[in-house]
Amino acid sequence: MKKSILLAVASLTLAQFAHAADIKKGEELVNKGGCIACHGAGLDKPIAPNYPKLAGQYQSYLFHALQQYQTKHQTPLYGRNNAIMSGMVAQYNKQDLEDIAAYIASLKGDLYIRDEMH
Ligand code: HEC
Repeated sequence: MKKSILLAVASLTLAQFAHAADIKKGEELVNKGGCIACHGAGLDKPIAPNYPKLAGQYQSYLFHALQQYQTKHQTPLYGRNNAIMSGMVAQYNKQDLEDIAAYIASLKGDLYIRDEMH
């Protein structure tokens, strides 16, 4: 009985580690991925006015957007059809996208408003 509780606790803890977003890993992926080529320095100075600023955007939104580019337009209600971004994210797995989203959300760009809200 005790042993099974311990095992349950241990596996819960492991599961949490496996899903925790890793900001440092996200930074490496963003640097290797060449995202600044379009989204600009600090991902806050896009090279074209119609390219989005990313720095400081909410993590959940970034993750959602990245997943949508991977999904493309599978149904009329889910997915984003953008050839550039779909190509950019094709190489990543779900955990990579979580890490990338966590890193970008941590950058203090124009969109970073969490401090003011507290
Ligand atoms: C060649 C240019 C280019 C590169 C390189 C690029 N992006 Fe993008 N990105 C775009 C464009 C253009 C859009 C807007 C696409 C659209 O209309 O959906 C975009 C959109 C996004 C969005 C959605 C923003 C929002 O507010 O909805 C995210 C997130 C994103 N890019 C992340 C990345 C990441 C992470 C990388 C590097 C792995 C990257 N981008 C590399 C051009 C680029």
